[in-house]
Amino acid sequence: MKSSATIEALSEETRRFPPPPELASGANARPGIYEEAERDYEAFWASWARKLEWSKPFTKTLEWNEPFAKWFGDGELNASVNALDRHVRAGQGARVAYYYEGEPGDRRSISYAQLLAEVCRFGNALRKLGIKKGDRVAIYMPMIPELPIAMLACARIGAAHSVIFGGFSPDSIVDRVNDSQCVALVTADQGWRRGKKVLLKNNCDAAMKATPSVRTCIVARRVGDPVQMQAGRDVWWHDIVADSPIQCEPDPMNAEDLLYLLYTSGTTAKPKGIQHTTGGYLTGVTMTHKLVFDLKEDDVYWCAADIGWVTGHSYIVYGPLCNGATSIIYEGTPDFPDKDRLWEIVERYKVSILYTAPTAIRTFMKWGAQYPAKHDLSSLRLLGSVGEPINPEAWMWYREHIGRGRCPVVDTWWQTETGAIMIAPLPGITTTLPGSATLPLPGIAADVVNEQGESVPPGGGGYAVLTRPWPSMLRGIWGDEERYRQTYWSKFAHKYLAGDGCRRDAEGNYWFMGRIDDVMNVSGHRISTTEVESALIEHPKVAEAAVCGKLDGMTGQAIYAFVSLRGAESGTPGLADELRAHVGEKLGKFTQPKFVTFTQELPKTRSGKIMRRLLRDIAEGRTLGDTTTLADSTVVKELQERAASESARDEA
Ligand code: WTA
Repeated sequence: MKSSATIEALSEETRRFPPPPELASGANARPGIYEEAERDYEAFWASWARKLEWSKPFTKTLEWNEPFAKWFGDGELNASVNALDRHVRAGQGARVAYYYEGEPGDRRSISYAQLLAEVCRFGNALRKLGIKKGDRVAIYMPMIPELPIAMLACARIGAAHSVIFGGFSPDSIVDRVNDSQCVALVTADQGWRRGKKVLLKNNCDAAMKATPSVRTCIVARRVGDPVQMQAGRDVWWHDIVADSPIQCEPDPMNAEDLLYLLYTSGTTAKPKGIQHTTGGYLTGVTMTHKLVFDLKEDDVYWCAADIGWVTGHSYIVYGPLCNGATSIIYEGTPDFPDKDRLWEIVERYKVSILYTAPTAIRTFMKWGAQYPAKHDLSSLRLLGSVGEPINPEAWMWYREHIGRGRCPVVDTWWQTETGAIMIAPLPGITTTLPGSATLPLPGIAADVVNEQGESVPPGGGGYAVLTRPWPSMLRGIWGDEERYRQTYWSKFAHKYLAGDGCRRDAEGNYWFMGRIDDVMNVSGHRISTTEVESALIEHPKVAEAAVCGKLDGMTGQAIYAFVSLRGAESGTPGLADELRAHVGEKLGKFTQPKFVTFTQELPKTRSGKIMRRLLRDIAEGRTLGDTTTLADSTVVKELQERAASESARDEA
């Protein structure tokens, strides 16, 4: 285990927060739910699946051919029907699905009936463009209503969407589009971010030079600046929907048909196309959204993530819509025009449930409590956290300054691969502890195991695993069955390896400690060290590079690059910036290394392997263990000195 030191660093948290009695008495999850699920977990999930609308009811619950699961495998349903039509037919058409707020301050409120009409118009337009069931469609958009509309329209006609986060570079678009051979790319002219225009269509133009499978590029007008439109390939969203009917026959999908692909970083340079299917995924997100957030009829719910990541897929689009929730979509950053933008939005729409990330919470802490204090946040009743381990200090600050001491905080652990929340409190039942995701949800079986795969006793740390299939689990990696087996199902027999280190206390609460593989978590974004290394090595002046994560008070981890240069090149601050810009261009700005240390030589074993563990220790300023296997130990001393001065510069 690579970070055993961290895992052994047991937290001594003793604060406990039992559920508020008012919440407990009316909560969606009733006491006894854990026992009910344990008695027959398949029957438990089947009962949740039956709350969805099936055009052909399923008769089989689980077919488990490890590591391949089929859930509700002979049933048929359509995701967009479950998200929209069902509520409209039930007389809820006028209910607000989304309050949309653009960064410049433009606002729209979109009812379920309107959303359904827009989805149908776009679905018809997609069909007219020749896009059909079984195709893949890439979506690269800002946080505007057209993004969920595009996703749901794909789902309606049976095309799988592959959303690519709007912060990615053209090269990253190319890799993802080519891997799954998308036939179309949906984008916008530009988007707004911190008052600046993000050149989405330009990035697509650059990408489409190398994506032969893309026949059509659909462009939504967001900002309004002129963009290049290539005849025969590029079309405007508003043109193709102009005479499109507002009825669109949904394609009935098998429960196991692909709903979407979402690419995530692994331990190699090639991102993995995580596959999610229809019936099980919708069951998982609907159930968890209802129980973990204790969603009620009059709630205004806000997940402040980006739809480009799984959190947005599951908890801005599919979960909330299947539950008929009223949600917020906000386009921009929390500090535009000022650092109280989020709190202004909470006050304006009377948000009652807020779901955000530890990195955001730590940023709010840094900005100061005066920003939330300016606003009436009394509508809030529940707070959620996701994306990385939340430190007890941030948890308490969130509770005090945002929740004003009244709102339960639910720390939710899950992954792109799990599709839905796996480990989290049920706010009416679970006693919460600052920094712990508490317990596996009903129906979910997890464990913490040692190197041999044996369950560790209370108080011990090890690898987090899931020990039986669950409906929203990934169904594999696009085009790479072997990698799916290898990555998740090979280290321990019959256990899904999450890749996270974790400790479990005497009461069974889970305390997640971060990744144990070569994946960094920067502001909740998963970034592979190998991807950043490959990008660095592509720079003509770079001979070799090694990248690791360094603990960071704000972003969880920061990217640390050790770089050796070719021949006569010398490492200057100017070159460090050039490398940062280069990585940003290759992969996307959010992957730029915060620290760059140049070195003549990277520390290597005598067999020539870069000693990554040593570099991690150097980056984090730890005393070094055994360095006797090093080929050249003078390298290390020099690196330690340089790293120390880099860190000092950062702190100053
Ligand atoms: C981390 C985001 C601790 C973890 C939903 C996981 C967390 C990775 C938590 C997945 C949490 C997510 N506590 N760590 N509450 N939530 N993580 O795929 O390392 O973007 O493996 O999914 O984020 O990131 P992903």
